[in-house]
Amino acid sequence: MNLDLFGDPPPADASPHPLSPGAFSLEGLALAQAPRLWAEIQNITCISPWRHLHTPGGLKMSVAMSNCGPWGWVSDASGYRYQRTDPLTGAAWPAMPGIFTELATLAAERAGYPGFVPDACLINHYTPGARMSLHQDKNELDYRAPIVSVSLGLPAVFEWGGLQRSDPVQRVRLHHGDVVVWGGPARLRFHGVQAVEPGHHPLTGACRINLTFRTAA
Ligand code: SIN
Ligand code: FE2
Repeated sequence: MNLDLFGDPPPADASPHPLSPGAFSLEGLALAQAPRLWAEIQNITCISPWRHLHTPGGLKMSVAMSNCGPWGWVSDASGYRYQRTDPLTGAAWPAMPGIFTELATLAAERAGYPGFVPDACLINHYTPGARMSLHQDKNELDYRAPIVSVSLGLPAVFEWGGLQRSDPVQRVRLHHGDVVVWGGPARLRFHGVQAVEPGHHPLTGACRINLTFRTAA
């Protein structure tokens, strides 16, 4: 495979750093593409705007979300699920930009998961104080595909747990441009994000963005 997908060679320091069997962080892998990713996020959220979803139990999530690609992840009183249309607009989710797919495929390949083609990209927007509690990504039909998670903007502390909610948690600081990939024995590990600290990032301003690529269907 030609890894020089974007014209620029991937950063030399992007060699996978293991978090647990099957899970890796790839520091700075998305750095060179970050301005283009951010521009695409603006286009996507013009069509499918940021919104705060509610958990099935009725709690408003502190993270604002949107999606792109054939399937989008949503949550409401009827539960967590993927659907082809945006409940806010009734229209299909915006298409997944080519640079998103290329980055996700490259990151998965670097982590030992060749041939990953996402059909869903959940886009998370954290303002200071927003957090995501420990959860498993388990609304996908097939767990053979990995999860690819790209961080932009303000840093955050990622919590990397085990297969049980009560298992010990590793804390990993994620910076702008970092990518985390988990699959295989790590696919159903609990993970979360601690409350984002106030700050300003030159690209994104006062927020953290996370792109989570999945094979949903
Ligand atoms: C998620 O698990 O959906 C988000 C993870 C992150 O924001 O880093
Ligand atoms: Fe998740």
